[in-house]
Amino acid sequence: MKVNESRILIVGLGLIGGSLAAALRASGYGRRDSDDAGGGGPVKRAEIVACDPNPDEIALGIERGLIDRGDTRLAPLVEGASLIVLAVPVLAMAGVMRELAGCLGTAAPNVVITDVGSTKAAIRDCAVDAFGRLPANLVLGHPIAGSEKSGVAAADPRLYANHKVILTPEPDTDPAALARVRALWAACDAEVLEMDVARHDQVLARTSHLPHLLAFSLVDTLARQDERLDIFRYAAGGFRDFTRIAGSDPVMWRDIFVANRDAVLASLDDFEAGVARLRRAVEAGDTDAMLAIFDRASHARHYFDSLLNQTSYQAEYQMQAQGKKLRYRVAPGGGVTGRIRVPGDKSISHRSIMLGALAEGVTEVKGFLEGEDSLATLQAFREMGVAIEGPHQGRVTIHGVGMHGLQAPAGPLYVGNAGTAMRLFAGLLAGQAFDTELTGDASLTKRPMGRVADPLRLMGAEIETAEGGRPPLRIKGGKTLTGIRYDMPMASAQVKSCLLLAGLYAEGETRVREPAPTRDHTERMLAGFGYDVGREGDTCWLSGGGRLTSAPIDVPSDISSATFFLVAAAITPGSDLVLEHVGINPTRIGVINILTLMGADLRLANEREVGGEPVADLHIRYAPLRGIEIPVDQVPLAIDEFPALFVAAANAEGTTRLREASELRVKESDRLQAMADGLTALGVENTLYPDGIDIVGSGDDGVSYGGGRIDSLGDHRIAMAFAVAALRAGGEIVIDDCANVATSFPGFIDLARRVGMSLAEEQANGEGA
Ligand code: S3P
Repeated sequence: MKVNESRILIVGLGLIGGSLAAALRASGYGRRDSDDAGGGGPVKRAEIVACDPNPDEIALGIERGLIDRGDTRLAPLVEGASLIVLAVPVLAMAGVMRELAGCLGTAAPNVVITDVGSTKAAIRDCAVDAFGRLPANLVLGHPIAGSEKSGVAAADPRLYANHKVILTPEPDTDPAALARVRALWAACDAEVLEMDVARHDQVLARTSHLPHLLAFSLVDTLARQDERLDIFRYAAGGFRDFTRIAGSDPVMWRDIFVANRDAVLASLDDFEAGVARLRRAVEAGDTDAMLAIFDRASHARHYFDSLLNQTSYQAEYQMQAQGKKLRYRVAPGGGVTGRIRVPGDKSISHRSIMLGALAEGVTEVKGFLEGEDSLATLQAFREMGVAIEGPHQGRVTIHGVGMHGLQAPAGPLYVGNAGTAMRLFAGLLAGQAFDTELTGDASLTKRPMGRVADPLRLMGAEIETAEGGRPPLRIKGGKTLTGIRYDMPMASAQVKSCLLLAGLYAEGETRVREPAPTRDHTERMLAGFGYDVGREGDTCWLSGGGRLTSAPIDVPSDISSATFFLVAAAITPGSDLVLEHVGINPTRIGVINILTLMGADLRLANEREVGGEPVADLHIRYAPLRGIEIPVDQVPLAIDEFPALFVAAANAEGTTRLREASELRVKESDRLQAMADGLTALGVENTLYPDGIDIVGSGDDGVSYGGGRIDSLGDHRIAMAFAVAALRAGGEIVIDDCANVATSFPGFIDLARRVGMSLAEEQANGEGA
């Protein structure tokens, strides 16, 4: 760090100036004589001097050891100072600057001046007045830290630690002066950033000045109403939390509102409009409107908290956001026994929010998957004005707004890793009156969206994609859609569902033919919400213009998540496992059919129907598996289950062949390639084809392959599949880039450990960490 100050003059020894002195003292900040570029040599502590009109403050500063000396007059202190920090109230700044300009004259070219004022445009004007122009050695700044206390007595050496300091340099600010001011704040452990003066004043008006104004006003209003101040005796936590800052320094705040008048008034106008909206809702007893406002605010507040505290619903997801990667380390061997319930179905969870939002009435959802993908869908509907309570332990309450009740979101809708959300949203949003933009994470941005954009355009939608039909999608609102007959070129439930959702808003009938049966959750749920959906053979259809009526939804456990444990039990001698309440929709049971064909000992018990979807408890015990040719008609019915099924194949006697599965190449990763690479790393013989793979299994019931290091490519199902593979590996399996497991299977590690697997997770800061 550059340490280059011999004498620091602090003008104004209150809380802010005093805390700066305390922090610099504590860090031993000063000057290194032998070096001016930052390297070796002992640091000579800078002399810290202060000017304050109140001699008691100076005396206290000296007594506490914060400053070496001080004076009530500026002139005697200026000479010899290398850095001058102006820490006086904003309106005192003009006088101080004039005095300073008089003292400095044209001498002292090396002196650097900075300030700590809470507004910047007004202080810049003062500087221009005082110096005749903005000096190049003046760097305006603002530490975003404070306290309702004032005076040097409250000085705190850690006041700036981990707080932001905003510097607002001008184009002709001397870079060396800027570097020295940065170094000053870095020595206080602050985080230094830069922005221009106008932006600083607008941002601060909203985040600091407005809340102070409201707190002052509320306390004053209540205090006037109750002359004896009785009310404060009964005031509880809410009052205390909201009004703490009303105890702040009145002079300082008067100055801020004078100096930042325009930006404060603009933010106050926005606030008043917001309060008026809420007032109308309260007056009219509009509980939905109230809930929508509170709900949005509550979630925004939690989001803000998570930003401040660097935590999130799922810590691993947050790590990824910070560029840290999650790694699994799975010990070889282990058992698979017990009785577990895996989280709710991802496909059904997405759809429950979408249809619940468009329905009339309140939809209660049980068993909702609290994974990142479905939470992103939920958040997107909140951004379109839908009041949604929860999720809380899988329960979500959606206050439907009806087919035409969605409102334009303020910005792009972010759907994370979820192809399902992006494709279904595309259909639903094509029918809205407002424009929208859909964005996603790095993996989703590589996935093909032409498969939905093209047929939607045939219906009259206007959709822009990035090059190659990739996200983001820009969808124009207010278009008239017309029903089409569409022969899907691929077996995709996402494309089918997208068109059915657009069809709800289209004139006439929308018919979709699928080349092979795909999951029919959309059709079932539409029917459950009272919408007529026809089906004959390979075609389904509906007519636009109807309405949806809310209905309760009980989301079964996701068979795609259950699959990892089915395969775990199927390959591990001695295993005996029950998976409760698993969805066994006939369009999803490819994995049951395929494992059974391979010889797995798998039984369904307690079959029943919940909310229009069949469920059962799956009981599986170890039995030796044999390689098979996977029937082509099972491919769409097991489309998400292949990563795990390939692990089953690696433990089966003989070769397992899969063909006509090129869709696997456009999932969260190219799953054929990712699995082939991983299996090869473990020593499993395999041959890759454009549309499939041959896997040669080991057959015996001991160790089937070696350990190794696997790149999951950020694909949740690749990560979980190789975690399961370790049960029969000869050595440890280390799997990189596993954070996305949180998209579909929060709690995977805990459940895996509960059944007897030995799995650890660790944080990796790049290669070899
Ligand atoms: C899904 C359909 C499938 C599946 C995805 C979820 C759905 O995708 O892979 O995980 O919820 O409709 P395709 O329809 O693209 O095959």
